[in-house]
Amino acid sequence: MLLPLLLSLVVCAAASFTFPTRLVLQSPGGLFLENLAVRPNGKLLITSPESSTLHMVDPAAPNPTFDQVHTFPNVTALLGIAEVKPDVYGIIALVLNDTTITAVPRTVAIWRVDLSSGGPPVVNKAADVPDGMFLDGLSAVPGEPELVLGADTAAGRIWQITALWATYGIFNSNSRHDAFAPDAPAPAFGINGLHVRGGDLYFTNSQKETFSRFPIFLRGGNVAQAGPVKVLGSANGTDQFDDFAFDSMGRVWAATLPDTLTVFFPPVQGNTMLGQLNAPGNPVEFNRPTSAMFGRGEVAQQHTLYVTTQAGQLIAVDTTGIRG
Ligand SMILES: *[C@@H]1O[C@H](CO)[C@@H](O)[C@H](O)[C@H]1NC(C)=O
Ligand SMILES: *[C@@H]1O[C@H](CO)[C@@H](O)[C@H](O)[C@H]1NC(C)=O
Ligand SMILES: *[C@@H]1O[C@H](CO)[C@@H](O)[C@H](O)[C@H]1NC(C)=O
Repeated sequence: MLLPLLLSLVVCAAASFTFPTRLVLQSPGGLFLENLAVRPNGKLLITSPESSTLHMVDPAAPNPTFDQVHTFPNVTALLGIAEVKPDVYGIIALVLNDTTITAVPRTVAIWRVDLSSGGPPVVNKAADVPDGMFLDGLSAVPGEPELVLGADTAAGRIWQITALWATYGIFNSNSRHDAFAPDAPAPAFGINGLHVRGGDLYFTNSQKETFSRFPIFLRGGNVAQAGPVKVLGSANGTDQFDDFAFDSMGRVWAATLPDTLTVFFPPVQGNTMLGQLNAPGNPVEFNRPTSAMFGRGEVAQQHTLYVTTQAGQLIAVDTTGIRG
C-alpha cells in the first residue's frame, strides 16, 4: 500500500486548524488551572498550583460550577492527577516556593483520592517523595494500580512511586537524564507531561521544546527503560509544551505555551506535526494552556477535548472536524 502512505505524508504538512471552541468555565479570580482527569461519569477533576483544594466541574451542566472535592492539609499546590483504576486517582501535592518555583524541601507527596464508592471521597497519602524538587506531570501505568510515574520538571527525573516507597527507579539513579532535564536552572521546566501508552512512555520537555518517547518494560512492579529516547517532534518557534492527551486514533494533542495546542500524528515517527489549533483571534483564545483530556461517555464527549489554562479557563474543543 505504497500510494496511500505517500498521500498521507503529503496531507501531513503542518497546518493550522480551527475547531469550534466553547468556554465551559472561568475559574473564580482567574485561579491557575494545572491538570485534569476525566471521571467515568464525565465530570472533570481539576488541580491548581495556587490551591490546596481539588475541584470538580460537570461540563455537561447548563451552568457549570467549580465545586470543591477535597482540601489537602499542609500543602499549597496540586499538580498532576492520574486515574490509577476506575474512579481512583493519584495526585501530586506539595508546598510551592513562589520564588524558586520548586517545592519546599520534603513537602512533595502523592495522595490517593478514591471516588469509586459514589459517597464522600476517601483520601489518604500514598507516599512521600522527600527528595522531589518539583513533581509536575503524573502518569498511571496500565495494569499497575499501585504504581505511578511522576515527572520532576526541575530535577529532570522520572520518579516511580508506589504506596510503599518512592525511588528514582532505574531511569537515572544518580544523574539527570539529558532528555528529561531543563537546559537552565529552575524555574526552567524540563520533563513536564508524561503518559504510558502501548509499551512506551511519551513525554514533553518544556524548556527543550521537545515531544519524545522511549520503550519501557515492567518487571516485578518496576518500570524500566527498554530502549533509547527518541525525539518525535519539536515545538514551533519559541513555543513550549506542557501536558498532552491521546485521542482514540492515537493522535497527540499537546497543550502549547503561549496560546495553542500542537497535534502530532502518528506519534511513533519523527517530524509528524499535523498542525496547531485555533490561532489567536478566535472567539475563545487559549491563554497559556496547561493540559488537555478527552471527555468520556457518549461519542460527542469522546471527541471533545477539555483544555485547562494558566488564566483559569476550562475550554471545550470539538475536534470532530479532524476526522473529516
Ligand atoms: C500539618 O503540619 C502541622 C505542623 O507541622 C502538623 O502538626 C500536622 O500534623 C500536619 N497535618 C497533617 C495532616 O499532616
Ligand atoms: C524560597 O526560596 C528562597 C530562595 O532560595 C528562599 O530564600 C526562601 O527561604 C524559600 N522559602 C521557603 C518557604 O522555603
Ligand atoms: C509556526 O509559527 C509561525 C510564526 O508564528 C506561524 O506562521 C506558523 O503558522 C506556525 N506553524 C504552525 C504549524 O502553526
